[in-house]
Amino acid sequence: MRKPKRLPFEELEPYLLPRPPLLGPPAPSEVVDWSQLFANTNPVEIEVGFGKGLFLTTVGTANPQVNYLGIEIVNKYVLFTATRLARRNLRNVVVTTADARIFLRERVAAGSVRTVHVYFPDPWWKHRHQKRIVFTAVFVREVERVLRPGGRLILVTDVADYMAMARETVLVSSSFLQEAEAPGQHEPTHDLDYLTNFERKFRREGRPIYRAAWATR
Ligand SMILES: C[S@@+](CC[C@H](N)C(=O)[O-])C[C@H]1O[C@@H](n2cnc3c(N)ncnc32)[C@H](O)[C@@H]1O
Repeated sequence: MRKPKRLPFEELEPYLLPRPPLLGPPAPSEVVDWSQLFANTNPVEIEVGFGKGLFLTTVGTANPQVNYLGIEIVNKYVLFTATRLARRNLRNVVVTTADARIFLRERVAAGSVRTVHVYFPDPWWKHRHQKRIVFTAVFVREVERVLRPGGRLILVTDVADYMAMARETVLVSSSFLQEAEAPGQHEPTHDLDYLTNFERKFRREGRPIYRAAWATR
């Protein structure tokens, strides 16, 4: 994939979530006001760990009546994706650099999100890396809190054990999420017609992909 030339910060700014003040505990006002951020009351969906942003650019283009917030812990991916968004003038997508586990807890209002997407989270199998796993019981309970009634959590991974662990985590730690019909696998019609960059890579390698969705009752 070609690397887009980074645009000057002023051109990326509309696609980056404004930062709260650096000092002090989060104030209630730091909870993101979606209607203010997107200047409309359309439904909001969140992608956790968007990497190079293929999903956000595709769905942002296909669904202008939906607002998307991408949360990614690696700043260079945030700037890379913001550049993609700016080149397409996709004002219904905003991205931010943060640990999604903390961001959901501190900056997302209860019952305000339609869907949380988690695509190919890092498995972090090594014991010393386990604190970095995204899909934990705490995360699931935060997702449950931020989802509106009828909202959905979607997970796609190439790691069978991760999917098994996620199913078990939801079962054990959630009272409101119930497994629902998983999203289908789309057959690509062109080179970038995949859910995400990692899906593209893994499907080209012929690896199996596991998909699941949970809906709030
Ligand atoms: C394997 S990559 C998948 C990227 C993208 N979802 C895809 O499918 O192409 C996992 C991504 O999650 C990000 N990530 C890991 N932990 C995170 C966290 N706690 N909060 C936000 N992003 C995180 C990583 O930086 C990386 O970009």
